[in-house]
Amino acid sequence: MQKHKLLIIEDDDTLRVQMQWALAEMYDVLPAAEPEAALQALQSAQPSLVTLDLGLPPNPSDASAGFRLLGKILQHSPLAKIIVVTGNSGRELAMKAISQGAHDFMVKPVDIDELKIILKRALYIHSLESEQARVQHARESRDFEEILGLSAGMQDVFSTIRKVAATDVPVLVTGESGTGKELVARAIHHDSIRKSRPFVPINCGAIPETLLESELFGHERGAFTGAHAQRSGRIEMAQGGTLFLDEIADLPLPLQVKVLRFLQDHKIERVGGRGSINMDVRVVAAANKCLKKLVMEGKFREDLYYRLGVVNIEVPPLRERGEDIVLLAKAFLNRYSATSPRQKALSAEAVDTINAYNWPGNVRELENRVRRAVTFAEGSLVRPSDLGFGPADETGQNLDLKKAKEDLELKFVQMAIIKHNGNISKAAEELGLSRPTVHHIIKKYNMLESVRKG
Ligand SMILES: Nc1ncnc2c1ncn2[C@@H]1O[C@H](COP(=O)(O)OP(=O)(O)OP(=O)(O)O)[C@@H](O)[C@H]1O
Ligand SMILES: [Mg+2]
Repeated sequence: MQKHKLLIIEDDDTLRVQMQWALAEMYDVLPAAEPEAALQALQSAQPSLVTLDLGLPPNPSDASAGFRLLGKILQHSPLAKIIVVTGNSGRELAMKAISQGAHDFMVKPVDIDELKIILKRALYIHSLESEQARVQHARESRDFEEILGLSAGMQDVFSTIRKVAATDVPVLVTGESGTGKELVARAIHHDSIRKSRPFVPINCGAIPETLLESELFGHERGAFTGAHAQRSGRIEMAQGGTLFLDEIADLPLPLQVKVLRFLQDHKIERVGGRGSINMDVRVVAAANKCLKKLVMEGKFREDLYYRLGVVNIEVPPLRERGEDIVLLAKAFLNRYSATSPRQKALSAEAVDTINAYNWPGNVRELENRVRRAVTFAEGSLVRPSDLGFGPADETGQNLDLKKAKEDLELKFVQMAIIKHNGNISKAAEELGLSRPTVHHIIKKYNMLESVRKG
């Protein structure tokens, strides 16, 4: 395991070297003789522990340089545990240092064994607090409607959500299927001042083209056959809130023009309507196809593409999210086994399989596999097979070409022999092999038994 870093700030060369020697076995020691060097060490490394001699140059007899440095260390590394070291009349100074945020103190002459104990206890507290801070951070990062993610890629997504949520700019969310694009869209809404107003999704790919226009813009009574009453469209329903245009790539070209006009003018006209209605709606769109490519192919309007994608959030595929994969698997496991009689856990093999798999269906696939595993796992441990990873699955664990060839060879020879009622010559002829070769194969697989039985 990696050693924790300990910064020793001590202007007395003999003492500093002595401490360094005594503590190097347990800690990764960074020595500093004066404040400037200490601050430099602090910049380049994040020490968990610091010992700080309060009497430092330029004026070692007064503690002002020490106190100034104490403040700077706390500002830079709030989680670092600082042990102040004072001269033999320095008890009062030590108390003052503690009141300002130092963790503990030690009075010179330094007793190394005592210092070791103090450091060990401080490190323990440091570990507890760091873990707490990590959990807190994780909790804050998933503040968005249960979007989990500690990976750098997802943290980038979160930081963009935070930035754009407060604005009204249109956002285009792109990513493979099942990566969480809708969750991102909802998070943008819930983090904005529109959160008490509606979030209205519409899937442009799931509604027949003929109905889509009226679904989006609404219609007046009698606008077309079957329009018995006036109806508001989804855009109108989102008034004051957020409209989520899912699968925007499937929006037919004629409707692209109308959506563009709505984005530009913030007005809509119902189908069959005479006047326009003012809209205050924020738009978030999602696509899992490469929209830019569609633009180049002339299937998606360039002007609409730029309107929608003022900000683009790209949600990374699950396979690129490192530790998040297992984190998510565990979260889903907890969620779905909450109602099951026995709490389930992932076996080591399941963790390995989850990490090795490339997740073409992303988070949705992971969620489905885990849900299935909760039902199928018999004991309390989830195994790869419970997750639907069979022995010949695409996990790459059983891609044995040689064995596949042998299986096929065996099967063909068997079929030919059965077909020709055990006549090896005829079987060989059909297989395009010589008699000795077929005999050789029979012997190799010890086949006679199975041929007779079959
Ligand atoms: N980071 C995440 N944390 C927790 N759950 C997630 C996360 N990402 C996705 N999910 C879950 O995975 C499922 C798929 O997410 P979502 O529907 O948002 O994906 P999508 O990108 O819109 O998919 P599609 O392209 O198929 O429409 C949902 O059940 C969602 O709750
Ligand atoms: Mg979706």
